[in-house]
Amino acid sequence: MQKKTPIRLRPCAALIAMCLSAPVAHAAPDPLAPGARWSAYAAGRAATPPMGWSSWNAFGTDIDEAKILGSARRIVDSGLAASGYRYINIDDGWALRRQQPDGRLVIRPDRFPSSAGGGASSFRPFTDQLHAMGLKAGIYSDLGRNTCSQAYSSDDTDLPKGSVLEREVGLYGHVDQDIALYFSDWGFDFIKVDGCGLRAYGADSPKVRSGQYRALPPVLDLQSVSRTNIPAVQAEFTDINRALQRHNPDGDYLLSLCVWGAADVRAWGKNFGNISRTSDDITPAWARMLTNFDSASRRELYAHPGSWNDPDMLYIGKGDFDAGHLVEARSHFALWAMLNAPLMIGADLRSMAQPLMDIVGNVDIIALNQDPAGNQATLAYDADDLQILVKQLASGQKAVAIFNRGLGPVEADLTAAHLKLRQDAPVTLTDLWSKEKTSFTNETKVRVAPRETRIFRVDGTRVLADGLYLSEQTGNVNPAVDGVVRPQADPSIFRSSAGWSGTKGAGERPMYAGWGGARADSTPYGQTLQIAGKPYAAGIGVLANSRLEVRNLGHRRLSAQVGVDDSAQDRARGVTFMIYGDGRLLASSKALRWGQPAQALSADVSGVKLIELVARSAAAGNEQLPVTWGEAALLSK
Ligand code: GLA
Repeated sequence: MQKKTPIRLRPCAALIAMCLSAPVAHAAPDPLAPGARWSAYAAGRAATPPMGWSSWNAFGTDIDEAKILGSARRIVDSGLAASGYRYINIDDGWALRRQQPDGRLVIRPDRFPSSAGGGASSFRPFTDQLHAMGLKAGIYSDLGRNTCSQAYSSDDTDLPKGSVLEREVGLYGHVDQDIALYFSDWGFDFIKVDGCGLRAYGADSPKVRSGQYRALPPVLDLQSVSRTNIPAVQAEFTDINRALQRHNPDGDYLLSLCVWGAADVRAWGKNFGNISRTSDDITPAWARMLTNFDSASRRELYAHPGSWNDPDMLYIGKGDFDAGHLVEARSHFALWAMLNAPLMIGADLRSMAQPLMDIVGNVDIIALNQDPAGNQATLAYDADDLQILVKQLASGQKAVAIFNRGLGPVEADLTAAHLKLRQDAPVTLTDLWSKEKTSFTNETKVRVAPRETRIFRVDGTRVLADGLYLSEQTGNVNPAVDGVVRPQADPSIFRSSAGWSGTKGAGERPMYAGWGGARADSTPYGQTLQIAGKPYAAGIGVLANSRLEVRNLGHRRLSAQVGVDDSAQDRARGVTFMIYGDGRLLASSKALRWGQPAQALSADVSGVKLIELVARSAAAGNEQLPVTWGEAALLSK
């Protein structure tokens, strides 16, 4: 995460007079000082990941009222609405122009006839219909003056019309006016805010050079985080947030951030919105689904109730996920459910085949996604060809998904240890597709076909009988400061060929920053947690100079084995570990260096609501200094 730069004092020795007249410098706030509050996004309405439908994957900008309401009708009639699918979201393509001089937006009347019924153009009749069906309504805009289709579409049929100013339909310069229009006037409940307006309209872009659009110097660069102005992007979202709160007095709104994993948003999206895109667009191609899955699957600590990772909408219904590819479609759905991703159907539901409807309608898998504990699954086994994801549920049960990414069938070994369950007690698996139950003790073999994901609910006896490891409750752990000083591209994300660029050029480079972020049961760089030769199967791995917020839901003790991780290259500097409770220091370690055995740290947290775990080292530039909160757990005794 970006740190605030301290204000530097000028050297004063020979310049007393000048210094006396210089402004007094204020010390930068210490980012590791306990804040005594949960700082991830908690506004809006996203206690569980949003579910619904979006027009984009099915129709692009070629949208109209009949298509959208047709899908909404099927959501209700098929029972999907009753299973939780509620948001019906209009994506890009609805705007006709920004009226001058008052700046009010006008809807395409040929596509949305109900908007032109009388007086000013309005979506109110449309949102009224959705609300009368028991659904919620979503709208689309952009951080800049213009949207993504205006930047990237080669055909202007569906694009806004009129003068340059009239075609500026994005939020830039109109945040308060547009948010008031969408929420107070038109009655929307959800907004997706795209980012192309801050990325694609530089003075040298062809559409700006030809005079079609005004230039807006880009502050977002998808390929290069070092060419991105992160505070500028954050400032836009701060403005939007304020407007959302002003114009939604009942707080019933949802903010979807869409900057595609750029600008290091995988580290801070959780502080600015309810869902945040972790990668560029999904396509109906298996390889692309892998990219999008990977962009969220190792960010398990960056998602919580109110602030979820968004690997993009479902593509079930097309290409590699159509009715001829049910194995792939089931995998896509099961994986999104385990990640606590928004479940946004992207198909034309008027013609979706029943077997695909049954996939998105699997209530047992939906229940995993909507589990109130809000724990994104963690990777209990992580190889390039096979992964095992485990999710702790509010009921005390677990869910497990075994994902075969490779080309051949696999006999996977599933062990009680993967599940943090006892090896000497029976474990029962319920297959969430076939509903069959099987039991095993210690370990079992699970056959997984190529591209298949076997997904089970799990009953067993927990290794930790009287508490929960922090890595089992990712929804309660927020890396408020994760110690990353210079955001770097994450090399662990599968690099697929993006459909829109074909195989021209050299292919995708690693580009989504977040490398070195906090992890559950892993070091920040994907190694086993280990202190002085002792491995820890459970724990939190994070860089030094970090602060983790932990919500305490009634536990009495926090304990951990702390130390510098064996994977650290910096062998000289010491790190001090501290536990705070509601802002008060409860326990502190001595300064620990690489190679020194773990120190047991424990604190009474009875009655404490927010615990903070701080690892502080003397110097900055701590990429070489991963630390381990081994076996970190909240206990009831
Ligand atoms: C971007 C977004 C997509 C979609 C399009 C609309 O590419 O990432 O999800 O909203 O813009 O033009």
